[in-house]
Amino acid sequence: MWEADKGDLFEEDAHGPRGASRPVTSSLTSDDLDVERTLRPKTLDDYCGQERICENLRVLIQAARTRNEPLDHVIFSGPPGLGKTTLAGVVANEMGAKLHTTSGPAIERTGDLAAILTNLEEGDILFVDEIHRLNHQVEEVLYPAMEDFFLDIVIGKGPAARSIRLDMPRFTLVGATTRTGLLTGPLRDRFGISYRLDYYSIEELARIVERSARILDVEIDAQGAAEIASRSRGTPRLANRLLKRVRDYAQVKAEGRITWEVASEALTFFEIDEMGLDWMDVKILTALTKTFRGRPVGLTTIASAVGEDPSSLEDVYEPYLLQSGLIIRTPQGRQATQLAFEHLGVVPPASS
Ligand SMILES: Nc1ncnc2c1ncn2[C@@H]1O[C@H](COP(=O)(O)OP(=O)(O)O)[C@@H](O)[C@H]1O
Ligand SMILES: [Mg+2]
Repeated sequence: MWEADKGDLFEEDAHGPRGASRPVTSSLTSDDLDVERTLRPKTLDDYCGQERICENLRVLIQAARTRNEPLDHVIFSGPPGLGKTTLAGVVANEMGAKLHTTSGPAIERTGDLAAILTNLEEGDILFVDEIHRLNHQVEEVLYPAMEDFFLDIVIGKGPAARSIRLDMPRFTLVGATTRTGLLTGPLRDRFGISYRLDYYSIEELARIVERSARILDVEIDAQGAAEIASRSRGTPRLANRLLKRVRDYAQVKAEGRITWEVASEALTFFEIDEMGLDWMDVKILTALTKTFRGRPVGLTTIASAVGEDPSSLEDVYEPYLLQSGLIIRTPQGRQATQLAFEHLGVVPPASS
């Protein structure tokens, strides 16, 4: 079913490991990718959490199937690792449709897109990961394909150039993006269905950990699963990765059985922060608490202080820090909260 699985690689390229100093949670091995694939839920029943989205999709998919029509175009947005690529596969599977996978940066020229589109058959699903990274010309070709199922292709160059129109089978485009803000209006408007994925609760993550443990044949108790869940930054991808590391630890130190004690020892051993914060999260909080002493700071200033680009700060790191109450957004900028000072063990400046 999965023709290619580049989405995760791209995301890791964009926001992931760059130096050897990255912690265990963000290093990516090919084994991780293999495991990710085996752990991917294939049906809505297997997909934990995001209940509103799943209920909604269930109805829409059933309606489309009853009418024997393709599903409307769908876009999933939200931070990395929350299950966008997984949902694309689930949708294809539930529709009984063939899935073709590509990504925004992989489609460089309009010809690349035309080649992909002319390959589709009636009812197929085209998954475009990181769809916000499509270039402008390619996007223009996509509009009529999405709206009226035809392609205008220009053949030749200069005075000899002419345009031909190709009819296409009705297909469903499923897009994924970490950056809703960057989608152009016309592209956004062409998706009939749009969902934003949220961070998962600890209970949901614990269910995901237990499910993954069953698949990987790892023995784990409820407290062990809850401990891994609580350090997973609201993110299923991270929960699965931590489970793998804890499994290794348990194998060596605890005869393979994961209890609360083993999980918490292992996670401390691997230097996973109690709130699951990663290296960049901590760097951002350190800048806000130590360098800027709790004052409100603009996004670009923080970005240059931590050496990350402002847009990935805003889309990838900030949402989780906001949601966990470690930072707030004020009209003057981002500010570390009391909780951030406490969490890092930094003494707050005397209030004036
Ligand atoms: N709702 C879920 N239930 C169970 N596992 C999930 C869920 N969402 C994501 N996962 C797991 O997390 C991993 C990363 O999800 P993925 O769909 O690649 O995230 P995204 O595309 O949003 O970055 C998947 O391999 C899958 O095993
Ligand atoms: Mg993905």
